[in-house]
Amino acid sequence: MLSRIARPTSCLLSRSFSTTQQNNSNVAVLGASGGIGQPLSLLLKLSPFVTRLNLYDINHTPGVAADLSHISTKAKVKGFLGPEQLDDCLQGAEVVLIPAGVPRKPGMTRDDLFNTNASIVRDLVRAVAKNCPKAMICVITNPVNSTVPIASEVMKQEGVYDPKRIFGVTTLDAVRASTFIAEAKDLPVKSVSLPIIGGHSGVTIVPLISQCTPTVSFPQKQREELSYRIQNAGTEVVEAKAGAGSATLSMAYAAAKFAENLMEAMGGAIGKIECAYVRSDETDATYFATPVELNENGIKANLGIGTLIEYEKKLLSDAMEELKGNIKKGEDFVNANK
Ligand code: 2OP
Repeated sequence: MLSRIARPTSCLLSRSFSTTQQNNSNVAVLGASGGIGQPLSLLLKLSPFVTRLNLYDINHTPGVAADLSHISTKAKVKGFLGPEQLDDCLQGAEVVLIPAGVPRKPGMTRDDLFNTNASIVRDLVRAVAKNCPKAMICVITNPVNSTVPIASEVMKQEGVYDPKRIFGVTTLDAVRASTFIAEAKDLPVKSVSLPIIGGHSGVTIVPLISQCTPTVSFPQKQREELSYRIQNAGTEVVEAKAGAGSATLSMAYAAAKFAENLMEAMGGAIGKIECAYVRSDETDATYFATPVELNENGIKANLGIGTLIEYEKKLLSDAMEELKGNIKKGEDFVNANK
């Protein structure tokens, strides 16, 4: 249990990777000109696993693509502008990352973004279904608790649904948790990892500090403060940015870390494990974040929740109602707007 979370071995972090694996992914970023999309595209341009990097947005992609294309790394970058170029962007894509949409402003919850972002994700995923139905779909757009069910319902409607290939990117929660715990315990941050389960907003984010590697112990008050900080870290950034948006740089880092581990697994690396929000039978919420082992088909195995201490059981119980409501909202949206 304690050792099941992947060490942060992605290339972005360590620059060490096996040259015996196939490292040639065709990647598309949908929403590539935005606050997350631009740094994410930069990190993917730096990745040795990316051969082709197609950048789609409704604004600015010619400039972003031209700029990135001058970097002396192997990925060939191309920009695609506006809905009429979306199909071309997705031809042959094996990994599709979706950060498109609007971010939060102070005082907003992720759910407040639903009205704008739900239809953006629905329409982009419909294009994925049409052009590259076998691609791994990595959803970053908030509210992730609802946009992953939206993506899944669209793929079902189009007859190409594979639950093993759709991920809500919750990596940033684990990245933040590792950072905060390393700071609290004065540990090297690369040595710290722990599962974050549930969803990706407020109380639905359930940090499992009891399963941290290395084992750490805290007085209950400090455990609660740390858990609360992990749950509300996105809001911490929204407030610090004071109206200029939500986390972009750390989100891009986390999404690139997830994508690199996924691409490595697709290329044959074994033991690649990330927490992600996926179709799940682990609880009575039909989508739920847990550590998942990745392979060339997406999810090889869901590694489950493991053993929780009483406090974590309470956090989990507090998460369920909101999470299930978020899931239903996403599913209902697609099914009411066929
Ligand atoms: C966050 O957790 C943007 O949802 C993202 O900050």
